[in-house]
Amino acid sequence: MQWRHTSFEAIDSTNEEIRRQAEAGAAEGLVVTAKRQTAGRGRRGRAWDSPDGNLFVSLLLRPQRATMEAATLSFLVSLAVAEAVEAAAPPLAARITCKWPNDVLIDGAKLSGILLESRNGQGGLLEHLIVGIGINLVWHPPDTPYPATDLAAQGVAETPESFLPRLLERFGFWYDRWQGQGFAPIREAWLKRAQGIGKPVLVRLSNEEIQGRFVALDETGALILEFADGARRAITAGDVFPAA
Ligand code: BTN
Repeated sequence: MQWRHTSFEAIDSTNEEIRRQAEAGAAEGLVVTAKRQTAGRGRRGRAWDSPDGNLFVSLLLRPQRATMEAATLSFLVSLAVAEAVEAAAPPLAARITCKWPNDVLIDGAKLSGILLESRNGQGGLLEHLIVGIGINLVWHPPDTPYPATDLAAQGVAETPESFLPRLLERFGFWYDRWQGQGFAPIREAWLKRAQGIGKPVLVRLSNEEIQGRFVALDETGALILEFADGARRAITAGDVFPAA
């Protein structure tokens, strides 16, 4: 991938800037970063606090792929983030996990967030896909429903400038594999780092909470929950927490 990087001091949201550029016809490979975001977006309509020192980056992709396949890309992104963190701090390796669908954790605390936004084109194909990534390099929010952390708190000194090339390198590696071989190799690598696999979890959906054991990831990226009676259910959206 040939990346073209534009950086801003402050912007509403790097995802929003990529969307504007995509609508104006920008080609795949655009990278937008900002030192600060004034309207950073998180998953499920939440805000993403965006102070100086953390990394806020969005990528523009135009894969000639079916819209449905976009979900599998989120696993690719978290794998790339996990490997970039590992490259920055090899001693942390065993403590870095990937949480379904796309958070990266250190010792169970959230280090990064990923927001994919896509526009569908004709014939069931993606028109464009925006990959937004926020990495807590020096700060993490103190009041989240789950534990959070940042790299500085883990004793790792990284800046947005030092971390971005690591991230783009790992992303490029996995994106090429996804283009050539599909989701299978990514699914395999992600599962090796999966947080909570084989364990009881609580899944918070928009209108209900369910408990079961996280037993697998299917070929579309859905989390497979198994209940006490052996029945299984595929989860495609929700928040996952450890359960007793
Ligand atoms: C989450 O809720 O976990 C996802 C957070 C994604 C935040 C990143 S920061 C860069 C990009 N621009 C945004 O407005 N959001 C994403």
